[in-house]
Amino acid sequence: MWYFVAPLVVFGQDAMSHLAELKAKSAFIVTDKNIVGLGLVDRVREQLTLAGTETVGVFDEVEPDPSVQTVQKGVSLMQACEPDLIVSVGGGSVMDAGKAMRVAYESPDVRPEEINPFMPDLGLGGKCKLVCVSTTSGTGAEATFAVVLSDREDHMKLSLINRQIVPDIAIVDPEMARAMPPHVTADTGMDALTHAVEGYICSWRNDFTDGLCMKALQLVLRYLPRAVRDGNDMEAREKMHNAACIAGIGFINALSAMAHAAGHSLGAVFNTPHGRAVGLCLPYTIEFVGEAAEELWVEIAHAMRVPVPAGWTAAAVVAQTIRELAREINQPLCIKELGIPLHAFDRAMDKLIDNVMADGSLIVSPRIPDVAETDRFFRYTYEGRSIDF
Ligand SMILES: [Fe+2]
Repeated sequence: MWYFVAPLVVFGQDAMSHLAELKAKSAFIVTDKNIVGLGLVDRVREQLTLAGTETVGVFDEVEPDPSVQTVQKGVSLMQACEPDLIVSVGGGSVMDAGKAMRVAYESPDVRPEEINPFMPDLGLGGKCKLVCVSTTSGTGAEATFAVVLSDREDHMKLSLINRQIVPDIAIVDPEMARAMPPHVTADTGMDALTHAVEGYICSWRNDFTDGLCMKALQLVLRYLPRAVRDGNDMEAREKMHNAACIAGIGFINALSAMAHAAGHSLGAVFNTPHGRAVGLCLPYTIEFVGEAAEELWVEIAHAMRVPVPAGWTAAAVVAQTIRELAREINQPLCIKELGIPLHAFDRAMDKLIDNVMADGSLIVSPRIPDVAETDRFFRYTYEGRSIDF
């Protein structure tokens, strides 16, 4: 038995107007100061005013990689506001924080940092609805039931998953992504691409997720360069915004794999933005997995409409196509290009490997590396050498 879980998705130009149809009495907005500064919280307020919402509380202190402590602070303000609608507006960090706060608000006995896949009925949905409005096109957090929190006291990252915490509604309005600068568009777009590829090749892939991952992959290849080149190209923005949400639903109902394990590790050690880190690791992962999923690489190459010349493997062609895309949007192709000196990389190697070995994404990789292979993987990825082992 398996489940397929997704929120109600409202997408397209003017999707934001759906907020006015929700007729909330009291709303609570979770966001960050950057989103407030861009005027995007005002757009949420406009819709709530149209709906006649009486009180609107705002918590704008979510930081990148939000902490358990931040979530606790937001929850206490939320409790004072007693919302029947929570609107989380921002990128992945903000939306994750909103999901965690909602759990603690509706089920006060549950500590957000203890969320796990095996919890019985969390009793969500009785007191409020959670709407996630994405302002980046990458994480798909508006549609997933995963939350990443940092514990500042224990210096740990917590990856929390439970299908009950999926938002009730995902609003995918491309206008909300228009202000994203090119490097954020590129970073987050690579995250969406990595979700699409890994959701398609991981060992928990299934009939319900394959089509979503493949469609998202095609949209990213076609529209990401345009969205990076011109943020006001609203067709490209809309297609990328859709792609990120589609890839989010695809991978969360399958899982991500080794590019996420290696990318998480890189991000934890060197603070590399998530999308840049996983996107950088993706072509090397494809080469490493290689023959273990050759049939799937053939299908992906076909979906990409790239031929596989005689003497090439489909994996090599797919990896090469992704490197060309990354180069076109000014993404680093190897760890050295992140500006990390060799001595710092060497010093961090044990930690990089430990993190990969402990990452839950690794178990669904079609080929699972041992410690020595992970060491080599990172050394090749540092230098920009195609994986040949
Ligand atoms: Fe990701």
